[in-house]
Amino acid sequence: MAKTYKIATIPGDGTGPEVVREGLKVMEAAASKFNFKYETFNFDFGGERYLRTNEVLPASAIDDLKKFDAIFLGAIGHPDVKPGILEKGILLKLRFDLNQYINLRPVQLLDERFCPLKNKKPADINFTVVRENSEGLYVGAGGNVYKGTKQEVAVQESINTRFGIERCVRYAYEYARKYSRKKQLTLCGKTNVLTYAFDLWQRTFAEVGEEYKDIKTDYAHVDAITMWMVKNPEWFDVIVTDNMFGDIITDLAAMIQGGMGIAAGGNINPDGVSMFEPIGGSAPKYTGMNVINPLAAIGAGALLLRELGEEAAAGAIEKSIREVVTTKIKDLAAGKMGYSTTEVGDLIVKHL
Ligand code: IPM
Ligand code: MN
Repeated sequence: MAKTYKIATIPGDGTGPEVVREGLKVMEAAASKFNFKYETFNFDFGGERYLRTNEVLPASAIDDLKKFDAIFLGAIGHPDVKPGILEKGILLKLRFDLNQYINLRPVQLLDERFCPLKNKKPADINFTVVRENSEGLYVGAGGNVYKGTKQEVAVQESINTRFGIERCVRYAYEYARKYSRKKQLTLCGKTNVLTYAFDLWQRTFAEVGEEYKDIKTDYAHVDAITMWMVKNPEWFDVIVTDNMFGDIITDLAAMIQGGMGIAAGGNINPDGVSMFEPIGGSAPKYTGMNVINPLAAIGAGALLLRELGEEAAAGAIEKSIREVVTTKIKDLAAGKMGYSTTEVGDLIVKHL
């Protein structure tokens, strides 16, 4: 009997609803082709709702979302809302309270035309970043004293627990074993300066690695990684790192794979509800114009289906994305694709 999944949608702000619509269009086609069913329930969280109600997230949100099999998110961020409120109040709160302790960012260049680096081919840019998603600087530990005066002090601390690091590193080893092409895992840190936090990361990485002798390990400082990612991205296979460094290097990684139009990510709780999103943000200036690239959201939909166990559907969507990108799309940037947002969604469905 066909399975019925329950998927929560949070289209959010700006172009979020437009890309989520295309993501669902593709998921619908995949469902009928691969014989599974899903029902969606929509949540209106985002900047508009906040401006209207003065509430970032209703108290029931976390419990409500826990009842779903997965969450499909468009974008959070509104030009009329001060930076930090929606990010911390919605996106980060969901990540933390739903215990989505992994931020998974597969990075793949699909067509040489879209790479800003000279002479790099699809085979050269094909790696995954496993970012710790529940600790580090993102915990928000710290505070101010004497705020607004010349004596002001601001402290913002990075929290790293053995437990949090271990589960993240273990996930990365497992991921490398299951999906990666070179069976290689690189720890990205800063052991030469952050000698408490990354000493713990490095020891944990080595200890857990004892159980994964089939995986080659490697270490690089975060600053060096930004250099190698531009010069020799082909060296990387799976990279594991902390929350802040992961945030930074995944934006760089998104650019070398062709930009935000194609970059998808997952916030994963391996034992709970995971949330998938295009990582590009709400792009307010393109809102409602039917020009935004929906491929990142469609790719996020594929990651969602993979997490639910629908590997064949996920793979088929990714294959269609690859075909459409290599044979049709003129440019991955908004407004330059040669097709509208809805037409790109239709093309993916057709190739499916
Ligand atoms: C990301 C984003 C978020 C982050 C912001 C919007 C809070 O940049 O998903 O990478 O910093 O994690
Ligand atoms: Mn980011």
